[in-house]
Amino acid sequence: MENLFQLGDYEDFFSRRCIWVNGPVIVGAGPSGLATAACLREEGVPFVVLERANCIASLWQKRTYDRLKLHLPKQFCQLPKLPFPEDFPEYPTKRQFIEYLESYAKHFEINPKFNECVQSARYDETSGLWRVKTVSSTRNEVEYICRWLVVATGENAECVTPDIQGLADFGGQVMHACEYKSGEKFKGKKVLVVGCGNSGMEVSLDLCNHNANPAMVVRSAVHVLPREICGKSTFELAVMMMKWLPLWLVDKLMLIMAWFVLGNTESYGLKRPSMGPLQLKNTMGKTPVLDIGALEKIRSGNIQVVPGIKRFSCGQVELVNGQKLDIDSVVLATGYRSNVPSWLQESEFFSKNGFPKAPFPHGWRGKAGLYAVGFTKRGLSGASSDAMRIAQDIGNVWKQETKQKKTTTTACHRRCISQL
Ligand SMILES: Cc1cc2nc3c(=O)[nH]c(=O)nc-3n(C[C@H](O)[C@H](O)[C@H](O)COP(=O)(O)OP(=O)(O)OC[C@H]3O[C@@H](n4cnc5c(N)ncnc54)[C@H](O)[C@@H]3O)c2cc1C
Ligand SMILES: NC(=O)c1ccc[n+]([C@@H]2O[C@H](COP(=O)([O-])OP(=O)(O)OC[C@H]3O[C@@H](n4cnc5c(N)ncnc54)[C@H](OP(=O)(O)O)[C@@H]3O)[C@@H](O)[C@H]2O)c1
Repeated sequence: MENLFQLGDYEDFFSRRCIWVNGPVIVGAGPSGLATAACLREEGVPFVVLERANCIASLWQKRTYDRLKLHLPKQFCQLPKLPFPEDFPEYPTKRQFIEYLESYAKHFEINPKFNECVQSARYDETSGLWRVKTVSSTRNEVEYICRWLVVATGENAECVTPDIQGLADFGGQVMHACEYKSGEKFKGKKVLVVGCGNSGMEVSLDLCNHNANPAMVVRSAVHVLPREICGKSTFELAVMMMKWLPLWLVDKLMLIMAWFVLGNTESYGLKRPSMGPLQLKNTMGKTPVLDIGALEKIRSGNIQVVPGIKRFSCGQVELVNGQKLDIDSVVLATGYRSNVPSWLQESEFFSKNGFPKAPFPHGWRGKAGLYAVGFTKRGLSGASSDAMRIAQDIGNVWKQETKQKKTTTTACHRRCISQL
């Protein structure tokens, strides 16, 4: 036993339930974790998926608003090895996407271990194994020991809630966009939507459609593009053009086309960043807004665009231009962040912001059996490409070793589980 783990860990090792996993541990049962599990299944590699929530795709099931649809055409959003049903529309609804994910998990016999939140994971140099500690909703602690660790906790694991002066004294309802479901409850109310990303725009639009009065805070610059140009998806057009043209030129063409479709967005208070939309996405990871109707509401004055916030006070917000608005509620559409640094004890592969240091397409494999899926800032299509690479990489080793009938032994496993 001494040579398996550091002596200092000995007591800790025996104080919790310890499970040897024959194959990789995948942390997260969102689209990325499911895609990786499905590809591993096809490679014949057993795995265990750990999920902090009580369901798969918890972001989609629990932390998104009702009117949400995929904003890219379906062919860019399906996961590997199982296409969307043919009768799905071009832009599937959130409900359809969840149904697809449920059937995906069923099809590939993926049964995550729910309510298991990974608290820490570290590589044990001595044994050459990963030690993954979880705590469940019943506060039971379990330690999983494995050779491969796949991080699939997502780019949007935690909500970003900025600390804005006076917000505690505001007195009205304050929620993050992840808690917002529909504008129904806000009828006739003055709502300040903080942020103008895809969430901020769509929440503002939804509020309008439910006869609320939204004011949307735009503190800096934003690229708004039409979702479609001449009936063709803007994203698809960009992908096509990128095959032939340099990025800077595609950016220029996109902006010209956006101008023809949407007009000059700057005249509505939506200043464009100096960098083009694709370059900004590639360098800063900032997604352009794909307009699905909010711009029309801004044009008609139904969504008021306001500058940054100075401070809140009781029932009021003061903006940086000195303007004061009376408001009933606040929706913080202020984005999300990765939570990897809070649990993964590693600093070579992942940077402090919770994303792999190496840019796409190199950020999927670290050292010592560590992998990352879904951190490409390229949505679901990026997750799929990571998943296939990871499964193939692990699958190659697995096949080689099982062919040689090499058996792995470990000095201590109280229980042995795997899904194969
Ligand atoms: C409102 C909204 C709309 C979006 N729409 C689109 C879209 O149309 N197209 C697109 O391509 N992308 C979209 N995205 C981006 C979205 O992040 C991806 O589509 C997709 O959900 C990423 O999948 P994932 O599995 O990487 O991450 P997630 O879906 O976030 O899944 C990660 C899972 O890991 C779990 N987890 C986190 N931490 C732990 C832990 N410590 N222990 C155990 N489990 C943990 C979470 O509970 C979660 O279930 C949208 C994002 C948001 C917020
Ligand atoms: N239908 C869809 O497919 C859909 C819908 C929603 C979201 N998404 C995806 O989900 C991800 C997250 O999107 P998101 O819109 O939630 O987040 P986001 O793109 O990160 O946008 C956050 C917004 O909040 C603003 N903000 C942050 N702190 C602020 C503060 N203190 N004061 C004022 N403004 C502040 C940011 O402004 P700055 O730019 O100035 O920082 C930005 O406008 C993206 O990948 C997005 O594409 C997709």
